[in-house]
Amino acid sequence: MRRKLAAGNWKMNGTGDSLSELSALAEGHPSASVDILICPPAPLLSRAAAVASGSAVTVGGQDCHAAASGAHTGDISAAMLVDAGAGSVILGHSERRQDHGESDGDVRTKTEAATAAGLIAIVCVGESLDQREDGQTLDVIGAQMEGSVPDGMTADRLVIAYEPIWAIGTGKVPTLEQIGEVHDFMRERLTARFGEATASGVRLLYGGSVKPSNATEIFAVSNVDGALVGGASLKAADFSPIIAALESA
Ligand code: PGA
Repeated sequence: MRRKLAAGNWKMNGTGDSLSELSALAEGHPSASVDILICPPAPLLSRAAAVASGSAVTVGGQDCHAAASGAHTGDISAAMLVDAGAGSVILGHSERRQDHGESDGDVRTKTEAATAAGLIAIVCVGESLDQREDGQTLDVIGAQMEGSVPDGMTADRLVIAYEPIWAIGTGKVPTLEQIGEVHDFMRERLTARFGEATASGVRLLYGGSVKPSNATEIFAVSNVDGALVGGASLKAADFSPIIAALESA
């Protein structure tokens, strides 16, 4: 069935010194019954890939451009991520949607580019606090999935991360019922669009203030296949227990 995934998003944190955390993680997990992914800042990617080589840890990007190459100063193509050693890329994170005005359409074309280059796309969706309080959560998630996920996706290339914006970096976490409601809904939407065979293979991650202390209960929620972890992925001492919780879920 679905192989679980513990994904770490370092965001704009870390320099070469931080690779010691990655090597500690790699040494701590020479093999694992779940997939382990670290997405460092782009300048660290190829060094991170070398550090993780031979361990159960893989590395990924945090964004890519929709075009294969060209006059796009500061941007990075999917092929460049692959060349640097990435196997996955996070797309449509709420910080990209907010800070860079990325629309669902943008995320969709980036996802097409990423999967065409052979990457696994981790497409992020999530509601704001206002949308949650207005009872719009499922409508928002449904629309983001419809708009951000391209047609013709296969289960081996698509991961969806549900990250309520109000839970990211805040220490606030939805109730287990709220997480379960959204994850069940996402599975239903995938089934309606892509059919049972594909939908049942797509991994659905929860993200937003996942910590060693709450990981076990979150991983017990139906249709939660892992986590996308920000702050608690920066230190091996924090991320390792989250991986262990996922392995025993
Ligand atoms: P957090 O971030 O774990 O620090 O809340 C999660 C994310 O933004 O992916």
